[in-house]
Amino acid sequence: MKQQILPTVKDIKNLKGKRVVLRLDFNVPIKNGRIVETMRIDRAIPTIEYLRKKKARIVIFSHIGKDATSSLKPVAQYLSGTMNIGFVPDFRTEEARAIADGLPEGGVVLFENLRLDDLETKNDPAFAKYLASFGEVYVNDAFAVLHRAHASVVGITKYLPSYAGLLIADEIKHLSLALKPKHPFLFILGGAKFETKMPLMKKFMKIADKVFVGGILANDFFHDQGIEVGKSFVDKYSFKLLPLLKKGKIILPTDVIVKNGDGNKTSVKKLSEILSGDSIVDVGPETIKNLSPILKKAKLIVWNGPIGFYEGGFDRATIALLKAITEVKATSIIGGGDTAVIVEKLGVAKKLSFVSTGGGATLDYLSDGKLPGIEAIVKCKKR
Ligand code: 3PG
Repeated sequence: MKQQILPTVKDIKNLKGKRVVLRLDFNVPIKNGRIVETMRIDRAIPTIEYLRKKKARIVIFSHIGKDATSSLKPVAQYLSGTMNIGFVPDFRTEEARAIADGLPEGGVVLFENLRLDDLETKNDPAFAKYLASFGEVYVNDAFAVLHRAHASVVGITKYLPSYAGLLIADEIKHLSLALKPKHPFLFILGGAKFETKMPLMKKFMKIADKVFVGGILANDFFHDQGIEVGKSFVDKYSFKLLPLLKKGKIILPTDVIVKNGDGNKTSVKKLSEILSGDSIVDVGPETIKNLSPILKKAKLIVWNGPIGFYEGGFDRATIALLKAITEVKATSIIGGGDTAVIVEKLGVAKKLSFVSTGGGATLDYLSDGKLPGIEAIVKCKKR
């Protein structure tokens, strides 16, 4: 396969005074007006700083949430702690145009949630052209939304010379290591929804040496083997899992943490001890211990999805496994979403080789090696 060259912000000549439309992913969790997790914002700052140092005039677009109901105002407030930044509550107004036009060299403004207008997610060409009208050049550093063919991600590249930001370049540099792995290579797959995880499973069954499966995905394997899973959640899927086990690469938990009844009381059980009233909520300690020699031998570890029922507060095994990974020499790459949030909470990001900021984008890149937002930059004819 021909190597795609991804032009980055560092390839842009004469940034001084240039108007840059910068697409970032500030889709962060907000509770009661406060940002719960800032990783995506923090990881976008180097590109903003690079452009500021070069004295560009920077108009930032981002989405937050699925629709128009969330506001980026708390993000602007957070960023104002490190830089001078304006905020425009509606990018479809004369005021927005006037503020963008009046930006000084090195000036930054953040425009409100792109999904104020549903033409954004429809990749509407006129809307993409409108977004493009705020700049002379387009920089996309919103890795986490690269799997969406939206106006600010794909459509806009028809109208402006387009480049990737520093975060996207870093994400691709690290995640591509999983596509041409060093061996022994351990792939860890957790979370739920076999439907979305199956492409990853199939791909990594081919290139990884071992695949450890946790989370709800493991329940499906137990269920198909005829193991009692009690009231545990089992996903609905339309493919056969047992043939996958025959390849000898899959490692499943040998013990689990179960909840019995409605209370939060839990106990550790061997698979043979699970009762019809139990529900599996996490992987057991013996399983984590048994993974130790595999972790020690591995040259590459790639992990996507918590291995316990994280939404329900069961993160003990995920934390134990993360800690174990920080103690081995392997290159360690953590896919985004909930696993990345746990890494941030524990403050262990520096002890891992790379933590991705993407959720769906990371999954798609790992299973496909491609993302619509990357393709659009590479194919841009305006450069
Ligand atoms: C994400 O959180 O995965 C990205 O910000 C994309 O958001 P979306 O799933 O709402 O398009």
